[in-house]
Amino acid sequence: MSVDAGAVQPLDRDATVYIAGHRGLVGSAVWRAFERAGFGNLIGRSSAELDLRDRGAVFEFVGATRPDVVVLAAARVGGIQANNTYPVDFLSDNLQIQVNVLDAAVSVRVPRLLFLGSSCIYPKHAPQPIKEEYLLTGHLEPTNDAYAIAKIAGILQVQAVRRQYGLPWISAMPTNLYGVGDNFSAQSSHVLPALIRRYNEAARDGIAEVTNWGSGRPLREFLHVDDMARACLHLLDHYDGAEHVNVGTGSDVSIAEVAGLVADAVGFTGRTHWDTTKPDGTPRKLLDVSKLRALGWEPQVELAAGIADTVAWYREHEETARGLV
Ligand SMILES: NC(=O)c1ccc[n+]([C@@H]2O[C@H](COP(=O)([O-])OP(=O)(O)OC[C@H]3O[C@@H](n4cnc5c(N)ncnc54)[C@H](OP(=O)(O)O)[C@@H]3O)[C@@H](O)[C@H]2O)c1
Repeated sequence: MSVDAGAVQPLDRDATVYIAGHRGLVGSAVWRAFERAGFGNLIGRSSAELDLRDRGAVFEFVGATRPDVVVLAAARVGGIQANNTYPVDFLSDNLQIQVNVLDAAVSVRVPRLLFLGSSCIYPKHAPQPIKEEYLLTGHLEPTNDAYAIAKIAGILQVQAVRRQYGLPWISAMPTNLYGVGDNFSAQSSHVLPALIRRYNEAARDGIAEVTNWGSGRPLREFLHVDDMARACLHLLDHYDGAEHVNVGTGSDVSIAEVAGLVADAVGFTGRTHWDTTKPDGTPRKLLDVSKLRALGWEPQVELAAGIADTVAWYREHEETARGLV
């Protein structure tokens, strides 16, 4: 597959890069990856320092700092339960965050910007693996449709900016991410950190049986967040196209298999019960990543090793990890 990448120059390592959401799972990994790549002028603000829902404050910040590059990794993010319980917050907060940041970036004509969406933008019953072009071809998964609509609006806004202002902004759609710095909250975490927390507690407390939501049969793809961060930099260095780009490994595993890997990593030897009265969500979600691969990018972190690393980090940071304090 060949990709029309546009005539893009790799980013200048002296560029001022604003990483919105730099304390989050993705943003902190992007920060590390950019530092490793030699960027010396990185800017970040916590939500307490700069609430991105505050339009006036966002314009003031972007006007004062005038970044050369923006990575928009700030968002209200959560798993199936949080999305299902707080759809208003997921829609409203995400629309406000992204409209404010993108509008402010237009106001100073930020030359390069990467908007991060999510694979939940695709129709629930999209053919697998999911190609970028399947966007808006069917109904969304209802449990996270509010979040997905906000993210779709972000992709469209980036495309609109390209059309109206000619700025080479791009969007990336990552698959399920995991890794150091994840959110391990019992209420709002994604599936993999939730499994790590649950199995680790069971192993530590000698509990004989762990109960997980659903059947364990849905198939999911998991990408280590350091791979995701490398992909963000790769896209900014090499891609300039209107269409968003999927970011994933290109292979999937069942939730039951992932639970098995987590159980092995924490040393849990008991039974697993699957509570089939709880929803499974989308039956399968695997991204077609041929576009990203054609741009010369490959993932580096294998799933079992990535889970083992994340478990080791979680155990070291149990007192301070997000969702646990
Ligand atoms: N995690 C995944 O599996 C996954 C998968 C696909 C796509 N993504 C996408 O990747 C992006 C980042 O996700 P993530 O997993 O890194 O989420 P995360 O760990 O929850 O981090 C989100 C960050 O956004 C910031 N934020 C939230 N609300 C804010 C506000 N009102 N003002 C300023 N900052 C705010 C938070 O800042 P503070 O920490 O300072 O509060 C936080 O650091 C999102 O667009 C998400 O859709 C994630």
